[in-house]
Amino acid sequence: MSTPPAHPRNEPGGGTTDGIGTTGPAEVGGAVSDTELAALRHALALAGRGPAHGPNPRVGAVLLGTDGTQLGEGWHSGAGTPHAEVATLADARTRGHDPRGATMVVTLEPCNHTGRTGPCTEALIAAGVARVVFSVTDPNPTAAGGAARLAGAGVDVVGGVLADEGRAMLGPWWSAVSQGRPYVTVKVATTLDGRVAAADGSSRWITSAQSRAHAHALRAQVDAIAVGTTTALTDDPALTARTTDDPEGTTLAAHQPLRVVVGHRDIPPGAALRGPGGALVQVRSHDPADVLTALVRREIRHLLVEGGPTLAAAFLRAGLVDAVHAYIAPVLLGAGPSAVGDLNISTIADALRLDVTSTQRLGPDVFLTLRTTPKTPEEF
Ligand SMILES: NC(=O)c1ccc[n+]([C@@H]2O[C@H](COP(=O)([O-])OP(=O)(O)OC[C@H]3O[C@@H](n4cnc5c(N)ncnc54)[C@H](OP(=O)(O)O)[C@@H]3O)[C@@H](O)[C@H]2O)c1
Repeated sequence: MSTPPAHPRNEPGGGTTDGIGTTGPAEVGGAVSDTELAALRHALALAGRGPAHGPNPRVGAVLLGTDGTQLGEGWHSGAGTPHAEVATLADARTRGHDPRGATMVVTLEPCNHTGRTGPCTEALIAAGVARVVFSVTDPNPTAAGGAARLAGAGVDVVGGVLADEGRAMLGPWWSAVSQGRPYVTVKVATTLDGRVAAADGSSRWITSAQSRAHAHALRAQVDAIAVGTTTALTDDPALTARTTDDPEGTTLAAHQPLRVVVGHRDIPPGAALRGPGGALVQVRSHDPADVLTALVRREIRHLLVEGGPTLAAAFLRAGLVDAVHAYIAPVLLGAGPSAVGDLNISTIADALRLDVTSTQRLGPDVFLTLRTTPKTPEEF
């Protein structure tokens, strides 16, 4: 790989709004042309056509001819389907183009391992691609080394281009693979005074239909949803992703997240959690680390913790929360459990302070996304 100082066109990118993809190794690379930069931006848009859930990353690619014309494009549609580079080579050939001497512009470093499909590095070398421009270095230790393998085969390689945008497109996947555990989002739906249920235990519905539809759209993007046994037993939730045009109904979205119950008590045979939807897993432990270990084995990248307060507090106390999604309704209860249980914080100096990354009105409610890690000085 070329290693001169970062070229001015290796733009730092615009950061993200959700707290994902703002850290990671700074990289250097050779010069990239305006045509390659435009192709990389197009590849980032193509990457977004892949599913947000699943064990594999969202990746897009564009193949450029020696004169800068686009020969082909592609994206990864999920585990078991061709990787973006292979799809792009196939697209170029379908269009009658020879990839030899061409430049592959891709949003993630080409993989160098055989997983469900073969290594992209070998496909690129075999196709005679002369140059590879990529955005993000693969954080997956088993797939990494693609740039070095390509360079060793005589391919001109430039990496780290538009890396912030590239990491933002990878979303929770990048964080999960970098940290070796699922990206964890805690979701709360609260009254203005931060309560998630009334004093008699009733909790449906605090937030509006618009908020619930929004939450269902997110459920369809995550890999797993977790609740504590008390929520499972008292609310009898289905934890399914319903389609956004029917969030109160029974129409299930195409992707259903794994349903995870944390705690020792049994879930009865007739529970809604055992009805149509994702597979049900019970982790009979109170340790959030055990939950994540069980989910790593299932290649879960994004876990949504939907409560209750006891489970949410356990994840926060363990430092295993990356983001919080808060739906806040203009409703007052004055009594009842608050969104998060005891965090063992006794003085204001020790308060857990979050960083608001976005705000949105959802009907009468306000939706906040927050992250638990502080901004870097450059981000202010
Ligand atoms: N508005 C909202 O966003 C929202 C969302 C969810 C729930 N809720 C409400 O929250 C209430 C339930 O909350 P909750 O806090 O009582 O229960 P919870 O967090 O749902 O479940 C707590 C139970 O899970 C097990 N558990 C798992 N991890 C644990 C840990 N680290 N420490 C201790 N116990 C652990 C224990 O049961 P075992 O004895 O079985 O191990 C514990 O009793 C319900 O009223 C529900 O309606 C509201």
